[in-house]
Amino acid sequence: MFNGQTVIVTGAGRGIGASAARQFAQHGARVVVNDLDTALGEETAHSIVTAGGEAIHLAGSVTGAEFPSRLMQAAVDAFGQINVLVNNAGYTWDGMAHKITDEQWQAILEVHLTAPFRMIQAAAPYLRDAAKAEQEAGAAFSNRCIVNISSTSGLHGNIGQANYAAAKMGIVGLTKTVAKEWGALGIRCNAVAFGFVDTRLTRSLEAQEEAIDIDGRELLLGIPRNVRDLLDHDIGQRIPLARPATVEEAAGGIVLISSPLASYITGHVLEVTGGMGI
Ligand SMILES: NC(=O)c1ccc[n+]([C@@H]2O[C@H](COP(=O)([O-])OP(=O)(O)OC[C@H]3O[C@@H](n4cnc5c(N)ncnc54)[C@H](O)[C@@H]3O)[C@@H](O)[C@H]2O)c1
Repeated sequence: MFNGQTVIVTGAGRGIGASAARQFAQHGARVVVNDLDTALGEETAHSIVTAGGEAIHLAGSVTGAEFPSRLMQAAVDAFGQINVLVNNAGYTWDGMAHKITDEQWQAILEVHLTAPFRMIQAAAPYLRDAAKAEQEAGAAFSNRCIVNISSTSGLHGNIGQANYAAAKMGIVGLTKTVAKEWGALGIRCNAVAFGFVDTRLTRSLEAQEEAIDIDGRELLLGIPRNVRDLLDHDIGQRIPLARPATVEEAAGGIVLISSPLASYITGHVLEVTGGMGI
């Protein structure tokens, strides 16, 4: 489905992003892997290459001012074009709304909303110019799209996540706007909203002791054990499929909506939630 196409996935060192990068490669894409974590990003790219695919890795934070243009340039230098951009990188830094600091608010808005916006701007010349050239030649448009990762926290709000929810709803507005602005060039823009996916962001904070280093500050990841216990307790009531998604299932939603089979789907928010909230 992606033969000859170049796909960029941010935050692809682990979790949903790593699985998406591998699935795109299995479907023929040449993949540009990005992650803050150099070793893990390299591992994802290496696993694609050893499986017979094509991939490169560019380490760095999506929030770096120059990073989006470096990432696009690296993609074009390696593979000559860009077809799909997946804005997946991110983390959580939770707190109750009345206690969230300015730093905490800005950091989460930066990684989940401003960085995707800058990525889209940086990708614009490559996506739009290639589409315009096809239009002028009277040729059919190639598959080109953006997938922004949202969350049920954004769509419905979530206790302890005012910053994250605001960013994840903001990305829906950005998604729909780009879909309207670039649609005439055949460039699609969709969001995928996850609910409860089994990654380090949703495991018990105390049990896993996972942290992310953001500008020298170590942030613990996961959700408090008592909250996780509550989620597990009534999972059958909250999620019709009665279990969290695997990373492969979550990534499947990204690949699905990026594929040529979704060529008439744009401005959509695909909820990959096991039916949560229906
Ligand atoms: N896990 C869930 O239940 C869930 C639910 C809704 C939405 N999401 C979203 O899905 C996406 C992937 O999350 P995940 O659960 O796979 O998390 P994860 O922690 O397993 O993977 C995220 C990856 O992003 C990288 N990353 C973080 N900040 C970065 C930055 N500034 N620059 C580059 N890379 C960075 C991390 O190093 C990590 O490898 C995120 O946008 C998250 O908000 C996840």
